[in-house]
Amino acid sequence: MKTVDREKLYTDLQYRFEYISGFIGFTKEDQDLIHKSGEVVAGVVPAIVDAVYDKLFNYDITWVPFAQSQEGLQVESGTSVKDVTMGSEVIAFRKTMMTKYLKKLVRSEWNASYIKYLDWVGHIHTSTPLKQSTINVEYIHCNAMLGYVSAMVVETLQTAGDWDQTTRDATVNAFNKFFWIQNDLFARYYVKDRLLTEDERTALAQEEQAKKTAMRSAIRSEFLLITALGAAAGIAIGAIAYRVFARP
Ligand code: HEM
Repeated sequence: MKTVDREKLYTDLQYRFEYISGFIGFTKEDQDLIHKSGEVVAGVVPAIVDAVYDKLFNYDITWVPFAQSQEGLQVESGTSVKDVTMGSEVIAFRKTMMTKYLKKLVRSEWNASYIKYLDWVGHIHTSTPLKQSTINVEYIHCNAMLGYVSAMVVETLQTAGDWDQTTRDATVNAFNKFFWIQNDLFARYYVKDRLLTEDERTALAQEEQAKKTAMRSAIRSEFLLITALGAAAGIAIGAIAYRVFARP
């Protein structure tokens, strides 16, 4: 049984990558297969990139971020979602970045700097103080897009290339593992599954306590109000009854 240092999973990117890769079974052979598929994949990169942006354009919610200034590209303030078209500068810019991403995937050595890049790709979609733009793409869309891109790549690999079936299957498998690793490098910036530190636990407990106290005091005030209203109603009914029945 291997020992895993939980804290390092959250503080040491290389350690996290090695843990996830080891767990998934993403090996040097998988990396080599991805490299060898380079020619086939590079040929379909433009079509994949276009399909990615057509997909994002299909939904208003996934088009919103492109009306905002991005890291490395100012979008005129007051630009609305409807102003952004497939021909806009911002989309051309984003398509270039996505093209680089896919080309790097089939060309880069799996060294610390590439893993850092993959991690940054996940991180840049959040509203991290490490960037100037305030864009925050919610995880639901990132996960959906990873599924979509992965399906497109798999479809391509299943028909393209002059491979025997074993190599083809192994290549599809290698890409599939890669996309799960990339997904981890998105998810880590959205999910909160790290064990809390002592300070965070105390802050959370205090917050909970404050909420409970506020709720108790609201219930007490409501109870007092109802009691007061009940008493007032009783007095009023008593007074009416006295007028009707007891007065001569
Ligand atoms: C498969 C999933 C995705 C991949 C691989 C991906 C890839 C990338 C890359 C490579 C960058 C540039 C990183 C850099 O500058 O170094 C980027 C930035 C960006 N992506 Fe994605 N993306 C994905 C999903 C999405 C989705 C679903 C949206 C929108 C709904 C989106 C919107 C953006 C935006 C707005 C930026 C610029 C962020 C900023 O400047 O603050 N991406 N993406």
